[in-house]
Amino acid sequence: MPITVRGWVRTKRESKSLSFIEVSDGSTLRNLQVVIDLASAPPGLAAELTRATTGSAVEVSGELAESPGKNQPIELRASALAVVGEAPPESYPLQKKRHSYEFLREIAHLRPRTNTFGAVTRVRNALAFAIHTFFQERGFLWIHTPIITGSDAEGAGEMFQVTTLPLDNPPLAEGGIDYAQDFFGKRTSLTVSGQLEAEIYALALRDVYTFGPTFRAENSNTTRHLAEFWMVEPEMAFCDIEGNMETAEQFIKFILSRLLESCPEEMEFFDKWIQPGITATVRAVVESSFHRITYTEAVERLTRSGVAFEYPVHWGVDLQSEHEKYLTEKLFGGPVIVTDYPKEIKAFYMKMNEDDRTVRGMDVLVPRLGEIIGGSEREADHERLKGRIAELGLRESDYWWYLDLRRYGSAPHAGFGLGFERLIQYVTGMQNIRDVIPFPRAVGSADF
Ligand code: 4AD
Ligand code: MG
Repeated sequence: MPITVRGWVRTKRESKSLSFIEVSDGSTLRNLQVVIDLASAPPGLAAELTRATTGSAVEVSGELAESPGKNQPIELRASALAVVGEAPPESYPLQKKRHSYEFLREIAHLRPRTNTFGAVTRVRNALAFAIHTFFQERGFLWIHTPIITGSDAEGAGEMFQVTTLPLDNPPLAEGGIDYAQDFFGKRTSLTVSGQLEAEIYALALRDVYTFGPTFRAENSNTTRHLAEFWMVEPEMAFCDIEGNMETAEQFIKFILSRLLESCPEEMEFFDKWIQPGITATVRAVVESSFHRITYTEAVERLTRSGVAFEYPVHWGVDLQSEHEKYLTEKLFGGPVIVTDYPKEIKAFYMKMNEDDRTVRGMDVLVPRLGEIIGGSEREADHERLKGRIAELGLRESDYWWYLDLRRYGSAPHAGFGLGFERLIQYVTGMQNIRDVIPFPRAVGSADF
């Protein structure tokens, strides 16, 4: 029975009387080998064959047959070939050699045609599906929280402003720009997190989650930071930090285990070409139980380690990547959940501990990458939350509805945020976060 395939030419080679074309349609790392017998080919096919160069789009018809070659079980013996779209070899940028990631970022419109980006894309899709599956199977509702917002969910002031006011000549009022004349009649920004709105829904529907793009104007030009990244944020009512940690651990293990089931070929690829041992690492995480340690204990262990860190550790400082590496790679050899951080280094919404110095925050750290999840039990007490907002110099009026939730039917609740690109980096071994999102936006770069 004749079949027709459509895709793009990866390579072409010729032997005495046969021509071989590797065709990819992006569904898998395994290309389909197309064989053309020049002696028996219909007239015109040979001419078409010369146009079928690397990168061109083709439609091939023929019979599938067992392949005598040792590299593939089957091949397509072509009886017809049409070049649908040429890719002139003198200018097509993706030639057979291995290109640098830097170069590929400059041609983000063509890089999905490489093995690496095809594999990353399929892993990204599989993880997104696994994330929804985890929450949907447990009765969580997916909430679509807004992208444009009037409040700073992290209180860190790292927001991109959204405005239609003319930047070169904005209307002025007493004290600066007159935002009353702006599109929304007030100052607005792109959201840094959907958490605050997710809390609204959790305090009505119990278990919810958001999964969408978030934006941060942090000036962090690193391999782990994007200005636009996707975050998964579950929020659970009648849940404390213990339940939160338990959910985070089950969640990570579930999605990694689904990944191993659904993308074995891609994982083998990353193991071979990107990060040797990555599959074993992912499997080990699925089978492990996460270590738990308080911030205070972690600081003690780091101080006692005798390691000369570039950033010295003492109680009160934020953990740097070298410290996170020590905890995950040296001390525990696996994922670690650090809890109860000093209030000074965490967001305003975290529930205060009885000591009045630490908050019920939790970060999940993983080897190689550091923080992959940040979360907490939320401050559910109206007066304490109001106090924290004032203490941190945030404007109470920006958070009036958030405070209101603590006046009416407040309940203990908790949640966390998983950085989706960090997760993909972690499981693929890709070094730079800019190579696990189709079109990266980072400091100084938004080319596509
Ligand atoms: O720790 P973060 O800032 O926590 C929150 O945003 C909370 N509102 C989450 C919650 O409790 N619902 O961010 C959560 C995670 C980080 O652990 C990290 O994985 C990722 O988001 N992340 C980034 N990923 C890429 N680029 C950036 N600039 C990121 N900033 C945070
Ligand atoms: Mg964090």
